[in-house]
Amino acid sequence: MERIPVSGPWITQKEVDYVSDAAANAWYGNANMYHERFERAFAAYIGVRYAACLPSCTSAIHLSLLALGVGPGDEVIVPDITWIASAAPITYVGATPVFADIDPETWCLSAEALANCITPKTKAVILVDLYGNMPDMDAIREVLNRHKVPIIEDAAEAIGSEFRQRKAGSFGDVGVFSFHGSKTLTTGEGGMLVTNREDLFRQALFLRDHGRPPGDKMFFNTMVAYKYKMSSMQAALGLAQLERIDELISRKRQIFSWYQSRLGNVDGVNLNREASETKYTYWMVTAIVDPKYGIEKPRMMERMSEKNIDCRPFFHPLSSLPAYKDVAQAQVARRRNKVSYEISPYGINLPSHLKLTKEAIDYVCESFKDILKKS
Ligand SMILES: Cc1ncc(COP(=O)(O)O)c(C=O)c1O
Repeated sequence: MERIPVSGPWITQKEVDYVSDAAANAWYGNANMYHERFERAFAAYIGVRYAACLPSCTSAIHLSLLALGVGPGDEVIVPDITWIASAAPITYVGATPVFADIDPETWCLSAEALANCITPKTKAVILVDLYGNMPDMDAIREVLNRHKVPIIEDAAEAIGSEFRQRKAGSFGDVGVFSFHGSKTLTTGEGGMLVTNREDLFRQALFLRDHGRPPGDKMFFNTMVAYKYKMSSMQAALGLAQLERIDELISRKRQIFSWYQSRLGNVDGVNLNREASETKYTYWMVTAIVDPKYGIEKPRMMERMSEKNIDCRPFFHPLSSLPAYKDVAQAQVARRRNKVSYEISPYGINLPSHLKLTKEAIDYVCESFKDILKKS
């Protein structure tokens, strides 16, 4: 039995052809031809006016914070459960991360926790569409309408997800995406910043190219900034993947439905839950195991690994990471964020790569149930 990887892309001849074409032809006057096509198609797909491709989602969050003018002395609210990349750029700009608790159903930022974390110093909120789900945007909007705080929507894991038929990434002042090799749409490494606000878009383009306006040929930088650009080969790969996005998302939903039919009724196991107003694209199929089984995520992953199955741990609360050990906000969050701390020890991501077969999922589910039985 070959090892079953936890994540991975679905690459076809189309992607190979586009990347080959970029390698052969996207130079000289054509150097940006794939960037322009990828950005235009991406903005149209998300339903926003502007898109800028970048080397990663982390850089997209960094530029979003800078474009919104976030800096030292400011606070930025971020859910406690997410990959550290959602929060790390808050530290890059000298601001303070405030870790808010998650909702027990969506595993995304809780509107109530958000409301409790807002202070006069709050300069932005980073929403995270965790594992391809989306937070209750109605409740979040209600809170933010009262406080007028800008939103960065981290849709790194949620391309194609929807809330009331609107695409993930289009809810904030800025939306950001990741095209890391594990993501539903990949460019190997890569990211995208999207927005309807021309001021933020222009500022992001300026900051991503060493503080000069797009097209500047005089090397006349007006600010010390960043070099955050994607290569044309990556943009070509992204465009080819985007042209197949419906197929990629259908496959993700199919994979989840196979898991759902095999594990959905297992006592004490909670899988990702799709709310009626949400379209969930299931970047990672996730199982939370009731503590009554007495099996926490490291042991579950170890047992699965013995059966040649790779899994990932549900994200640890950011406030529990050694990286934030001495941060005062993390100490507060450790005492306050009950849901994050209750769920996280018992969650694992099951294999969710795009080329998984039904037979492989049968094997994963049988193995998982066997481990529960013996625990
Ligand atoms: C929620 C979330 N935000 C941000 C990122 C960062 O993306 P990248 O690796 O492209 O910088 C990731 C990637 O894993 C992610 O899952």
